[in-house]
Amino acid sequence: LRIAVFASGNGSNFQALADAVQAGELDATIELLVCDKPKAKVVERAKLAGVEPFIFEPKRYASREVYEAEILQRLTEKKVDLIVLAGYMRIITDTLVTPYYGRMINIHPSLLPAFPGVNAIRQAMELGVKLTGVTVHFVDGGMDTGPIIAQRAVEIEEEATEASVTESIHAVEMKLYPQVVQWIAKGQVQLVERKVQIIHS
Ligand code: GRF
Repeated sequence: LRIAVFASGNGSNFQALADAVQAGELDATIELLVCDKPKAKVVERAKLAGVEPFIFEPKRYASREVYEAEILQRLTEKKVDLIVLAGYMRIITDTLVTPYYGRMINIHPSLLPAFPGVNAIRQAMELGVKLTGVTVHFVDGGMDTGPIIAQRAVEIEEEATEASVTESIHAVEMKLYPQVVQWIAKGQVQLVERKVQIIHS
């Protein structure tokens, strides 16, 4: 499976994927890192992992569609099968969603459909929920709305802080995301209409 990872920030999920590939636990190659922030830590991580980066500055382009068309060209050149969004903090339009529908996944730090959008962990804590978690889903045209592939719960204890919950969620994400990508690599994830079936071997 040839994947491209899109990320804007720290890249702990990028690292988890790269480590899983390296360890032989993930039958995939990371063909490209797509990043909209030249100074992001994930760029450094890609360099260390030997992954080619495509770094772009959105403000240098006339529109989202224009830079997405350029990204699409790179993805096509690299024959990318699957786009893995890992903290990519930009809206994605039909330019990429349409050609990659069913072949683009995202990880989100809540149990969707609760708390879509930014600051999902803060939103959950402000509402005082006792259980939150992590969702991996296919990307459609909406904000964190696509068909759900996998979810894991994370409890919010009485004494938890935003930092401690963030840490717990990250730990869960770093296990779950490589696992889901491996299911896809093995052909175990089927999208039928808007529902996902996992074929457990
Ligand atoms: C993760 O919490 C992910 O759920 C969200 O963005 C964060 C990215 O973290 N979409 P990192 O850059 O992978 O460390």
